[in-house]
Amino acid sequence: MGWEKSVFIEKYRPQRLDDIVGQDHVVKWLKAFVKHGDFPNLLFVGQPGTGKTTAAIVLAKELYGKNWVHNFMEINASDETGVDTVRTKIKDYANIVPYGGAKFKILLLDEADYLTPNAQAALRRVIEKASDVCRFIFSCNYPNRIISAISDRCAVFRFKPLSTFHLKRLIQTVCEKEGIKITPEAANMLAIKSKGSARTALNLLNTLKFGGINSVDRNVVYNVIGMVDYYQICQLYQLLKMADDFKKVDTQLMRLLFDRCYTPDEILENMVEIIKEDDKVEDSTKLNLIKWVSEIDYRISQGANPYVQLKALMVIMREELGKGGKVSTSPEDIPHLSSTPFPSPKSSSH
Ligand SMILES: Nc1ncnc2c1ncn2[C@@H]1O[C@H](COP(=O)(O)OP(=O)(O)O)[C@@H](O)[C@H]1O
Ligand SMILES: [Mg+2]
Repeated sequence: MGWEKSVFIEKYRPQRLDDIVGQDHVVKWLKAFVKHGDFPNLLFVGQPGTGKTTAAIVLAKELYGKNWVHNFMEINASDETGVDTVRTKIKDYANIVPYGGAKFKILLLDEADYLTPNAQAALRRVIEKASDVCRFIFSCNYPNRIISAISDRCAVFRFKPLSTFHLKRLIQTVCEKEGIKITPEAANMLAIKSKGSARTALNLLNTLKFGGINSVDRNVVYNVIGMVDYYQICQLYQLLKMADDFKKVDTQLMRLLFDRCYTPDEILENMVEIIKEDDKVEDSTKLNLIKWVSEIDYRISQGANPYVQLKALMVIMREELGKGGKVSTSPEDIPHLSSTPFPSPKSSSH
C-alpha cells in the first residue's frame, strides 16, 4: 500500500472544489474563476488544516483536468532554505511555456509567511515579470507577515477554522469508510480536540487506525488520544465550590497532574470553559476568576513554579466561589501585579 493510501490527510484530501467543506465563501469564488478560465493572484489566509493548499490544488485540477500537474507547481517556503532557491525555482518555472496550450500556469507559494520581509521584497519583481505566464497563489497563517507589496497585488481569501459540526461529520465519514465504529460523543470530542483543523482530525483518526483500534468511545479518546477528561476538571471545580476540606481539592489537583499527567495549561484552559459555563455564579465573579486564571497562566509562562501557582489559584478560586458570587480581590488590586510583575513578552525577547 502506498503511503498516500495509508496517510489520511492524503487519502481524504478533497478532489473537487465541491468536496471542500466549511469554506463556501471561498469555494464560490474559485468556481467562478474556473468558469471564467482565469483569476488574479491569490492570497489564502487561515490557520493550518483548513484547506488552503487543497483549494489551490483542486483549483488547478478543475482548470486543467488530468494534465493539471504539468501546469502546477508548489513551493513550500518553510522547506526552502533561501530566497535564492525560491527565486531560481520561480524563474525556471516561469520560463517553461504552459502545457497543452493553457494560458498560464499556477505557482503555489505555500506558507509564504515563512519568508522574511526582505526575501518577499526580492520576490516581488520576479513575480511581476512572470505574471504573463503564471498566476501566483500564496498561502499563509499570518497575513500581517506578508508585505503589502505582495498582498496588495492579490485577491485575499480567508479560510475559517472548521466548525465542530463540520469536523464531526468529517470524522464520522472517515470512520465509516475505514470500518471504525465511533460513538457520537467520541466523534464530538475528537472534533473539539481538533480545534478547527481538518488535518488534526484526520491525524488523530490515523493514530487510532495505526494502533489497530476499530471501536472508539470516550474512554479510547481519553486513553489513546490523551485528551483531557473535562469531567475530571469539572470535579476539581466542584470540590473548590463544595469541599469543606482543602485537602480534597489538593488530592484531586495532584491526581490530575501526576496520575493523568495533564499539563498546567491543559487544566487552566479547561477551567476557563468550566467557569464560563457555571450558571450559578455571577458574571462579575466569572470575569474575575477568568482574569485570575489568565494571570496564573502568564506567571507560569514566565517561569514561575507551575505547582505553586496552580495551588495559589485553587486557594483564590475557593475563596471567590465560597463567597457566593461576591467579587473581592482581582489581579489588578494586587500592587505588584498591576505594575507588570514580569517583563512583557515583547521586551523580554531581546
Ligand atoms: N475545508 C476542508 N474540507 C475538507 N477537508 C479538508 C479541509 N481542510 C483541510 N482538509 C483536510 O486536511 C488536510 C490538510 O489540508 P490542507 O489543505 O493541507 O490545509 P492547509 O493548507 O490550510 O494547512 C487535507 O488533505 C484534507 O484532507
Ligand atoms: Mg498548507
